[in-house]
Amino acid sequence: MRLIIKNNSSEVGEYVSQVIKKRILDYFKNRTDGRPFVLGLPTGSSPLPVYKKLIEMYQRKEISFENVVTFNMDEYCGLEAEHPFSYHYFMWENFFKHINIKKENVHILDGTAKDHEKECAQYEEEIQKAGGIDLFLGGMGVDGHIAFNEPCSSLSSRTRIKTLTRDTIIVNSRFFDNINQVPTRALTVGVGTIMDSREVVLIVTGHSKALALYKTIEEGVSHMWTASAIQMHKKAMIVCDDDATDEL
Ligand code: GLP
Repeated sequence: MRLIIKNNSSEVGEYVSQVIKKRILDYFKNRTDGRPFVLGLPTGSSPLPVYKKLIEMYQRKEISFENVVTFNMDEYCGLEAEHPFSYHYFMWENFFKHINIKKENVHILDGTAKDHEKECAQYEEEIQKAGGIDLFLGGMGVDGHIAFNEPCSSLSSRTRIKTLTRDTIIVNSRFFDNINQVPTRALTVGVGTIMDSREVVLIVTGHSKALALYKTIEEGVSHMWTASAIQMHKKAMIVCDDDATDEL
């Protein structure tokens, strides 16, 4: 696993967006069978500088998303796609509507699905059908969770419903008008789903993530800090800012 330390979140965004651009360009250089590039994506504040830079690259015509398929990590249960606090809304507002991605190539779990199990099983099937994920970009919770794989999640878990911890609800309430609006459950890809991708890139920024970063890379693999599973991945990279290294 590689650890790349940058001065601030903007530099992290620049670096990670360059990695994504390079992977997409290299992929299409050597590809003749028409299979698209498959990109896993997160929400949260950490990836915002990356999305901003990728949009700028697209505007400068340095990169195209025409043959890119995306799978988002997670979605809150009970929120319609149009709901301003849903991850659907977040992704379209902050990224997809600014680039040339095809609507049918965007995959986000349906948090309003009546049959959660079916929705999650279908999502796993869609990922398989797309040929697996080439690069999964992720963030990290202050408790070391990846996607919504809360502490104690199985490290071989697949896409499923998870109950959010009180800590996560409190931390994520900053995106809502008040804490009572935060859904208590979410659909999320599993740690195993993320580990199956060909490459994993995690963004970790800010002092509040310092303990989680330490637990993720300097202690053993643990289901209490689910991001630590990436120690077992053959091609993983963490890109962090200086503040996030405070406990290393
Ligand atoms: C949520 C998301 C995670 C994200 C985490 C950190 O819990 N489900 O995918 O990594 O928040 O978010 P932020 O980047 O805003 O700190």
